Amino acid sequence: MKLKKDFSIQKARRQELVKTIQNDQDVADGSLVLLVAGFENDRTAFWQESSFFYYTGITEAATALTLDFEDKTSLYIPNCGDVREKWIYSSISLTQENAKQLGVDEVTVLGDRCAGYQLFPFFKAESYGHIIAWLKKIVADDAQLFTLYPANEHEYVEQRLVMNHLCDFVPGLKERIVDISSIVAEMRRQKDMDEIAKISKAIEITELAHEAAAQSIKKGMLECEVQASLEYMMVGAESRASFPSIVATGKNATVLHYTANNAELKDGDLVVVDIGSVFEGYCSDLTRTYPVSGKFTARQKELYNLVLDVQSYIADLAKPGMYLRSNEHPEESLHHLALQYFKKYGYEKYFIHGLGHFLGLDVHDVGDVSIPLKENDVFTIEPGLYIPEEGIGIRIEDDYWMAKKGCISLSENLPKSVEEIEALVQQQFDDTGDIDDTVDFSDIGKTEH
Ligand code: GLY
Ligand code: MN
Repeated sequence: MKLKKDFSIQKARRQELVKTIQNDQDVADGSLVLLVAGFENDRTAFWQESSFFYYTGITEAATALTLDFEDKTSLYIPNCGDVREKWIYSSISLTQENAKQLGVDEVTVLGDRCAGYQLFPFFKAESYGHIIAWLKKIVADDAQLFTLYPANEHEYVEQRLVMNHLCDFVPGLKERIVDISSIVAEMRRQKDMDEIAKISKAIEITELAHEAAAQSIKKGMLECEVQASLEYMMVGAESRASFPSIVATGKNATVLHYTANNAELKDGDLVVVDIGSVFEGYCSDLTRTYPVSGKFTARQKELYNLVLDVQSYIADLAKPGMYLRSNEHPEESLHHLALQYFKKYGYEKYFIHGLGHFLGLDVHDVGDVSIPLKENDVFTIEPGLYIPEEGIGIRIEDDYWMAKKGCISLSENLPKSVEEIEALVQQQFDDTGDIDDTVDFSDIGKTEH
């Protein structure tokens, strides 16, 4: 079967990973790198585990990849027998025939035939028999197993489950595990041009979604109706939300990860729309704050412009060598400098979250914020003010790419000034202040208010 996709980037990344491990450690003979894909579940659409995707380009669940230090790469797939193709859509066929194009030396099964077409982190030993045979050899040879097993238990949870489960089958394996998550994080932090292009495409889709959101905002609409308008654009663009869309009006906007999205929009209130979409695995994350009436009040405008000033002040300061956030170096930490700016106006206690995060295959991408910023980092700058007693939440978030001398906004096409935001919301109003032409979701089932 002919493959359209090119897997050479992933192959080069794996070679760099192996080289970095070798520079970092004394690698014993017979050692292995093991990367494990994510697993499907019934509650959410499957989305490949990001580091596995980064090094393989493979989007199928429950697969695994081993690299030895003699340049042999094996891709393992669950042994689902002949029902596999009846259940699993795969844009590429993972067969030995395609191994060369997949950039691996062999494509084989993980072990014996598994009961269904899915495989879960608590598989039977026989289903992983081929990997387990390798792992037993690692223990016998006193070699190392390099894999994603960080001390921080919030990361790589499924991978940790798989490793713990494998350790139950292979006595002595736990002591042979060497965590590679910080090497992987440093590699993933540095985006190449292909990744920048994909993030930019994800940003373009989110810009369209924001325009749709702004044009569906008017008094009487529900937050979920605005959400439906913007997600319609994402799905239509063959994308999806990179995290649960936040459409939060009035006091709801002071709850950072508000997701109920069921309140009614009221004249005089603001709406925070914090959304992102995905393009070929890469995420965007953009926030705008809109006035329901199409016009900011004087007080809202004052606060909005302060948040905007902080964002542009920080974007001007952000250069290689500065920190996204560092408690040890507050004078070079963008987060602390933003706090200082708010403090001048007496608002520091209303800025209640981090200034930004790395962006990539995950919306809160890997990378240590206390390691100085460097060229080809991609990150958000998202100052905000949250004043529950006034029912006001404001956040402005854009996505930036670090260049040699400073950062470049990747989302500058999305309106941001008070005048631009007001014009965008008002664009669909007719003379009565109502929306002329929009998708009507009013007959679709909703909760009572
Ligand atoms: N956009 C959501 C967040 O950064 O947490
Ligand atoms: Mn964000």
